[in-house]
Amino acid sequence: MNDINKIIEEAVAKINNADSAALEAVKNEYMGKNGVLTQILKSLSQYSIEEKKVIGSEANRAKAVIENEIEKRKDFLKKAIIDEKMSKEKIDYSPAFYFPFSKGSLHPIMRTIEEITSIFKSLGFSVAEGPEIETDWYNFEALNIPANHPARDTQDTFYLEGMLEGMRNVMRTHTSPGQIHVMEKQQPPVKVIVPGRVYRNEATDASHSAIFHQIEGLSVDENVTFADLKSTLTSFISKLYGPDIDSRFRPSHFQFTEPSAEMDIQCILCKGKGCRVCKNSGWLEMLGCGMVHPNVFKSVKYDTEKYTGFAFGLGVERFAMLKYGIDDIRLFYENDLRFLKQF
Ligand code: DAH
Repeated sequence: MNDINKIIEEAVAKINNADSAALEAVKNEYMGKNGVLTQILKSLSQYSIEEKKVIGSEANRAKAVIENEIEKRKDFLKKAIIDEKMSKEKIDYSPAFYFPFSKGSLHPIMRTIEEITSIFKSLGFSVAEGPEIETDWYNFEALNIPANHPARDTQDTFYLEGMLEGMRNVMRTHTSPGQIHVMEKQQPPVKVIVPGRVYRNEATDASHSAIFHQIEGLSVDENVTFADLKSTLTSFISKLYGPDIDSRFRPSHFQFTEPSAEMDIQCILCKGKGCRVCKNSGWLEMLGCGMVHPNVFKSVKYDTEKYTGFAFGLGVERFAMLKYGIDDIRLFYENDLRFLKQF
């Protein structure tokens, strides 16, 4: 028994110092044809039955222990080789010098468009886009604004040189032509918003810009009423500014809607008490809207007996200015990083 324990001890010591080649030698030394343990097992015949039992089982135990130690050593050596290789092949990704990179962010106008769009999506609207260069037909005629109509003067149109399909090209003055594009392609029910950039030939100041953004809305189906218009726009406002912001609709005029209205909301800054932003009225004008004029439906060959619809158009900059407390529209376009970094 003592001999066997000694054999194990010796073997383990050798194993723990062995490289892969030496390991094979150790294995052979103990378990090979003439190995120490093999010899012991071979010589069992000279012992009594009792002794055979004890020595046999001890020798087998020693074999198992040594084999196990050899396997452990093999694994250890394998891992050591991999580790060494890894440390040699390691790529140093740290930059040679550090530059204070900062993460970009969405422009406040884009953020506002995304926020408004996601609210209308939640109300069942899909999103479409139209071209920024339009013909006279899409920007005016189809929207019930005929040539020489005084309503054209209010639009400060940029006209482009040349003609397209026999018509004058304009930079779109509003996103309303988006309504026409959608209805030309799709029969009711239509429930869509059209965000986009629009152009007006006017002088720039703190609240005017020649290029700005609008979001158009259109909902057409059988039995769409002014009540649908009101409920859609009031839920939009309460989702955007909170449920306790009051709103009101005032009669107005647009060529493409009849009746037409403007929507005001309670001033979100002073909650209706009166302040500089709402010019002490307690109300803010937010958007134009109304029931789609039958002439517009005729432009796209919709059945005016069967369908009714509502439309609205809002200025994105105005919503963004109120939301972020910005008092000069020009800040949006100057790309001053000190401004943009705040969003
Ligand atoms: N297109 C109008 C504008 O630019 C806004 C507008 C008013 C759009 C009423 C509409 C609407 O769809 O129904 O001033």
